[in-house]
Amino acid sequence: MKRIIIDTDPGIDDAFAILLALAAKEKLEVLALTTVNGNAGVDQVTKNACKICDIADENELPIFKGCSRPLCRERENSAVFHGDDGLGNIGIPDTVVKVGCEHAVDYLVRKAREEKGEITLTAIGPLTNIAAAIKKDAEFAGNVKELVIMGGAEFKGNMSPHAEFNFWVDPEAAKIVFAAGFGKITMIGLDATAYIYLDPVLRELLYAINTPVSRFMHKISRVYMDGHWKIEKKLGCELCDVLTIAYLLDESVVEKVDAFVDVETKGLCEGASVVYRKKYYPQKEKNCEVAVKADVKHFYDIFFKYLFPEYLATAAQLLTNYYDSK
Ligand code: BDR
Ligand code: CA
Repeated sequence: MKRIIIDTDPGIDDAFAILLALAAKEKLEVLALTTVNGNAGVDQVTKNACKICDIADENELPIFKGCSRPLCRERENSAVFHGDDGLGNIGIPDTVVKVGCEHAVDYLVRKAREEKGEITLTAIGPLTNIAAAIKKDAEFAGNVKELVIMGGAEFKGNMSPHAEFNFWVDPEAAKIVFAAGFGKITMIGLDATAYIYLDPVLRELLYAINTPVSRFMHKISRVYMDGHWKIEKKLGCELCDVLTIAYLLDESVVEKVDAFVDVETKGLCEGASVVYRKKYYPQKEKNCEVAVKADVKHFYDIFFKYLFPEYLATAAQLLTNYYDSK
């Protein structure tokens, strides 16, 4: 059983990721959600975290609000993909789920210290809270068992030719995180998440499954699909953050390489992750494992097995038809 904290900026793919983690009770114990400015402002994404817990009927899960802006800059939120409210503008009313009064950074520092070597931290938003925790407590990185990050890209960004959104929002924070000396970091960047498309057929299956969670996923992903069409002329949407949770459930869903990773904070390549593969740069000290590929069929087996087990076979068949016809 992994004991995890999800640091998140929900966010449509964040919502899918959180719902998968909460459904996988036999393997993951979600201790809390900590929120951070990213896809929308921190007040809004914190409300969204509450709404997601409400949909999942998890009204007791602790939620802590974190940093409202990057460490040393201002950045726009990601309305084109996630909608102004970060959850696809579908008008979900606010819920009664309560937010803890401790700041997310204080919670992270305290919990990692209390449960030294036990906590797996999953960061699926900009790394501001994690960097702030490192600055606050010199032992923080050493107290965390493992850090799994959705962010970065070895080859192709989504905010510039090189920068991925989470690192682009707060490059200084990302740089601090890679230099902090965590025992194990896995970077699940766009090189791997690019394989994880929710195609229109599987999205339609979510509608047909007709549970509150599946209908919620179907509904919030409309704006996200439109964003992908508008910008990339692609049908479907990328479930970036969800791959981190699938990875926690079964590491073999991705292929990884050992690397030294650093983050550019200035100039043309601002926000880019610079990945020195150990294989090509043996003199560089490994600080990370980087996912370079993902297995889409395996991913959806994990996704449906935990969320909608009765539809596992249907999803696998639809996926086979879809990929064989391409
Ligand atoms: C990342 O950016 C956000 O918009 C998504 O939620 C994901 O965390 C992908 O680049
Ligand atoms: Ca996110």
